[in-house]
Amino acid sequence: MSWRQSLEQVKSRPLPAHVAIIMDGNGRWAKARGLPRAEGHRRGEETAERVVRFVGEEKLAGYLTLFAFSTENWGRPAQEVRFLMGLLEAFLRAKLEELHEAGVRLRALGQLDRLPQGLRQAVERAVRQTRDNTGLNLSVALSYGGRWDLVEGARAVSHAVVHGELSAAALDEEAFRTYLPSGELPDVDLLIRTGGERRLSNYLLWELAYAELLFTDVLWPDLTEEHVLEALIEFQERTRRFGREVG
Ligand code: FPP
Repeated sequence: MSWRQSLEQVKSRPLPAHVAIIMDGNGRWAKARGLPRAEGHRRGEETAERVVRFVGEEKLAGYLTLFAFSTENWGRPAQEVRFLMGLLEAFLRAKLEELHEAGVRLRALGQLDRLPQGLRQAVERAVRQTRDNTGLNLSVALSYGGRWDLVEGARAVSHAVVHGELSAAALDEEAFRTYLPSGELPDVDLLIRTGGERRLSNYLLWELAYAELLFTDVLWPDLTEEHVLEALIEFQERTRRFGREVG
């Protein structure tokens, strides 16, 4: 079967509504080539762009959420943190028009007040400008942690209860979700983690409850459209039971 035929077949079957990705392995990719880690991140950025373009153009998912920087990543050497922040800012500034024209709606998830001012401004501008777009919902997790998201949700819920806007008895899962900073995102159907580790690393804890988890040893800069297509085929082959028996 040709590439186009495989792609069309995948598109004719149920696709994940929400794909989340942990982009891991930039550092190891660079090390294996005797290059500085920064070069791995630069190549990683190119991969991110390719994946966004592929998923967006082929309409392979309505939501795509990329883990660009975790709360734990603040512990990396200052020089690397600075480089990553600069890279993300340059990416947003350079690609905003193209993303906007492609109908992408950008969201940022995480402790934006911890970001350097330049990056925060670039993020806020991109989010504002693309707010009414109806194409791919692209979210970038930045200074994000799943537990942070849950704690923020709990804080907002307590605030609403204390101020009489919500009765504790009325709180159920769907109501709770609306208080999460990530509350506009649907459940993740497919999580892809590159780089060989088999961990969630504090990513989208609420949204991952029923996700298919797909781990690959491919390092993020090496990931291609073909790997994404293979991941979707694997997703479609797995029986999704949501804890129930299916006939
Ligand atoms: C993991 O590699 C990757 C990151 C810390 C995130 C950086 C991601 C990019 C630069 C992609 C750009 C994203 C966007 C949205 C433009 P690692 O350093 O943890 O690799 P290692 O595990 O091999 O050390």
